[in-house]
Amino acid sequence: MAMSSTPNILLSLFSIHFLLSLVKINEAKVPAIIVFGDSSVDAGNNNYIPTIARSNFEPYGRDFNGGHPTGRFSNGKIATDFISQAFGLKGAIPAYLDPSYSIPDFATGVTFASAGTGYDNATSNVLSVIPLWKELEYYKDYQTKLRANLGDGKANDIIKDALYMISVGTNDFLENYYAVPGRSSQYTIKEYENFLVGIAGNFTKALYDLGARKISLGGLPPMGCMPLERTGNLMGGSECVNSYNNLAAEFNSKLNDLVIKQNKELNGMDMVFSDPYGIMLDIIQKPAFYGFEVTGVACCATGMFEMGYACSRTNPFTCSDADKYVFWDSFHPTEKTNAIVANHVVQTSLAKFF
Ligand SMILES: *[C@@H]1O[C@H](CO)[C@@H](O)[C@H](O)[C@H]1NC(C)=O
Ligand SMILES: *[C@@H]1O[C@H](CO)[C@@H](O)[C@H](O)[C@H]1NC(C)=O
Repeated sequence: MAMSSTPNILLSLFSIHFLLSLVKINEAKVPAIIVFGDSSVDAGNNNYIPTIARSNFEPYGRDFNGGHPTGRFSNGKIATDFISQAFGLKGAIPAYLDPSYSIPDFATGVTFASAGTGYDNATSNVLSVIPLWKELEYYKDYQTKLRANLGDGKANDIIKDALYMISVGTNDFLENYYAVPGRSSQYTIKEYENFLVGIAGNFTKALYDLGARKISLGGLPPMGCMPLERTGNLMGGSECVNSYNNLAAEFNSKLNDLVIKQNKELNGMDMVFSDPYGIMLDIIQKPAFYGFEVTGVACCATGMFEMGYACSRTNPFTCSDADKYVFWDSFHPTEKTNAIVANHVVQTSLAKFF
């Protein structure tokens, strides 16, 4: 008996250390993920406003938790859902306007994003969606409710330690500047980029003033490779539109400069630039390496131009296995692509927050 008691004590000590280390891990450095942006990160806010920029019907969501359209523009999860999971938080970040969730749910993650929106107020007007400044108003409302619900101390900890993710900008160029009259007669493209970066800087500063410290400013994808843009590139043999890709890369480098500048200017600011551009271009150029078969057209419908309501459940052309496709509809990646991009940023820009 005496022989066996020593190992038991040792075992117990080990267990206690092991449990303590687990507790430490569970004391998440990031208690919540708070999201702003467009359809890349909207989980269904647009279901609750009058707009045609919607996706809360099949075949959207057909691979989401066994088949459930939510308003995410994908067959399944979006990148922020995978990122939340990687931080040990919930596997899907709910939309703030969804009445089936409340403050206790939102305390560990929430998205204020609205499909079709942009940095520019004029972009959100195109499809009557939520402008970015209004997303910030909703966030202020969230802070008030969080404090009322959890008390100032706990709420302020969440506000300070949360990771804030911003993913927006593609629509300012593709839905606004190059698509409708207005901005292109006011600004050259470079002036417009600078205008948008100015709004981005005011937005991140406003978040900082409200208590945010850990911020991920998301870059643009290689937007010239979206199936919609390739379809429009008839003269170019439906290849990626290089001018749009170059624009995205240039805009990203300006956002990166903004991140460097504000980290210097704002005491305690811990902002990173999260870049989907390189990994997405790599997927598109070497699809087989990632297990994909189709890059040029999307899974949904003909894959050439459909999204939203045009991507209907009854369309006979919709693919059966979205995992073979980089894009789900003509503007948005499949769940599988989202998972790869999320994993990439978790291992690069976001690694310091774990
Ligand atoms: C966008 O609209 C809001 C609300 O009207 C306004 O406060 C803000 O200054 C506008 N932003 C720009 C960049 O014009
Ligand atoms: C950013 O904020 C400053 C100071 O409030 C303001 O003067 C400027 O117009 C804003 N920039 C944009 C692009 O909205």
